[in-house]
Amino acid sequence: MNGLAHFGERFSLAGRRVFISGASSGIGLHLAGLCAEAGAQLALASRRKDLLEKAVAALKQRGATALAIELDLLSSASIADAIDAAEAGFGAPIDVLVNNAGVIQLARFTDQTEADIDRVLDTNLRGAMLLAQHAARRMIAAKCAGNIINIGSAGALRAGSWTGAYAAAKAGLLHLTQVMAVELASKGIRVNSLCPGNTDTDMIADLRDNAGAIIKRTPLGRFGQPDDLDGAFLLLASDAGRYMTGTNITVDGGLTLAWV
Ligand SMILES: NC(=O)c1ccc[n+]([C@@H]2O[C@H](COP(=O)([O-])OP(=O)(O)OC[C@H]3O[C@@H](n4cnc5c(N)ncnc54)[C@H](OP(=O)(O)O)[C@@H]3O)[C@@H](O)[C@H]2O)c1
Repeated sequence: MNGLAHFGERFSLAGRRVFISGASSGIGLHLAGLCAEAGAQLALASRRKDLLEKAVAALKQRGATALAIELDLLSSASIADAIDAAEAGFGAPIDVLVNNAGVIQLARFTDQTEADIDRVLDTNLRGAMLLAQHAARRMIAAKCAGNIINIGSAGALRAGSWTGAYAAAKAGLLHLTQVMAVELASKGIRVNSLCPGNTDTDMIADLRDNAGAIIKRTPLGRFGQPDDLDGAFLLLASDAGRYMTGTNITVDGGLTLAWV
């Protein structure tokens, strides 16, 4: 008997090259630290290079290999360049993509402007799809056991108000996850999604005034913290989830069960 030590090894990311979009803050920044602890090499990508460089310096101090990569999901050229830069920096293609970057805009359905709709859909769905396409092409060329995790949202699963473009983009991303899973399985690439509920990051800073009401209808009685995602994330990212593809894991304190 050697207890569960051997089982813990199945959650390891040792030797994996993980690319995380939206790693300058919030959930992406937290997941970068988690992946480093699990033994991965990291590419941290987003628009605010100064924040990425700070995060990379902190990860390096902890002994991790990490790269800061500029990425704007609203630019196709930037998306292609970012995947190229990660591959060049690592000297090998990435094997895990965490499609995490996203933006929200809260406004009544009838008040969402065309520019707002474009920005939210183009970042959260079009940009995420293009990034996954570039990553998948490289994974296929490298014949590696690829892994893509799309960060969705509880808002994709149940209708909330004031989130029209955001919820539509995230629902699209969840369906895309299933299509990608079916198409890419034969290439050795798994694709799953992870849907957080309200998680205490800059993205929902505007909701803090209304926190009491949100917490009241959350069965577990609090906002999520980024580290509440750790178990589900590591399951999807590591060999522990090796027979999982096209699946969604929701980590929302029960919010979607008691939505209204
Ligand atoms: N917090 C929640 O309650 C919650 C709930 C459900 C789902 N989520 C999802 O979780 C993910 C992370 O959100 P978060 O809560 O951590 O919010 P956050 O702190 O605001 O992080 C969003 C990240 O996305 C990046 N980003 C935004 N636009 C981008 C673009 N055009 N190109 C590249 N990167 C871009 C931002 O980096 P730069 O500004 O540096 O580009 C930032 O790092 C999002 O997909 C969000 O929808 C969050």
